[in-house]
Amino acid sequence: MHHLREMLAESRAAVTTRTDVEPRVGIVLGTGLQHLAERCAVEQAIAYTEIPHMPRSTAPSHRGQLLLGTWSGIPVAIMQGRVHYYEGYTMQQVTYGVRLLAALGVHTLVLTNAAGALNPLFRRGDLMLIADHINLMGDSPLIGPNDDVLGNRFPDMSDAYSATLRDLARQAALTEHIPLREGVLVAVHGPNLETRAEYRFLRLIGADAVGMSTVPEVIAAVHSRLHVVAFSMLTDECFPDALRPVTAEEIIATAEEAAPKLEQLISALIPHLDRQ
Ligand code: HPA
Repeated sequence: MHHLREMLAESRAAVTTRTDVEPRVGIVLGTGLQHLAERCAVEQAIAYTEIPHMPRSTAPSHRGQLLLGTWSGIPVAIMQGRVHYYEGYTMQQVTYGVRLLAALGVHTLVLTNAAGALNPLFRRGDLMLIADHINLMGDSPLIGPNDDVLGNRFPDMSDAYSATLRDLARQAALTEHIPLREGVLVAVHGPNLETRAEYRFLRLIGADAVGMSTVPEVIAAVHSRLHVVAFSMLTDECFPDALRPVTAEEIIATAEEAAPKLEQLISALIPHLDRQ
């Protein structure tokens, strides 16, 4: 029953013996966004393979290390690379890193990903603040016995993407002159991209962007009582009647190209997050 808590204590010990940094903000860097970590004054980099119970990333472009340091003067822990459900990991493994960030003392989580644009007004290369989500992955990280110390059995999701933090993100975008879209992310398990009929369906049910990550992490973060702010880098246009083939390499290249504006936005946002 308390197995997860014991695992987290072991992982936490492996990190805290190697650093004095007490992170307050956690950041997860997604596909094509690994270089964002260059803004962080890194004091310690720990490979996921050196942290007991931490699953290793196999997805293209994901580095697989935990960075501890300061970003815009705030102590942070950065997951440089995540693991995905499509890699064959369980939802518990997919969200283990976020739970570790919570165990390390983080109060606020910044999540990033690459996603496809479903809203026809949005474009490849646009940055989207996630306002809400639809979980179509067919699974949840909370299925199974609940440890009431870690979180509630039935966590409320009405403010999963904190309205207060979204206000701060919009303000930071305005100050920095960074165009910022806002919308609903739908999560699918992948790893294949979607058919035209699926994109049409996903748009119809109210999504503005589609991706293969983030949503399980948000569910685990809300369960862990973390405040969440999340961004999608829109890497391809999923318009059913004008669909063009896209490769993972193009998705990564687009995310890398547009990454500097997300780096600038997060740098401006971080100090405000720690004042909450
Ligand atoms: N579908 C799902 N995930 C994605 C996409 C997409 O079109 N683009 C980037 N991640």
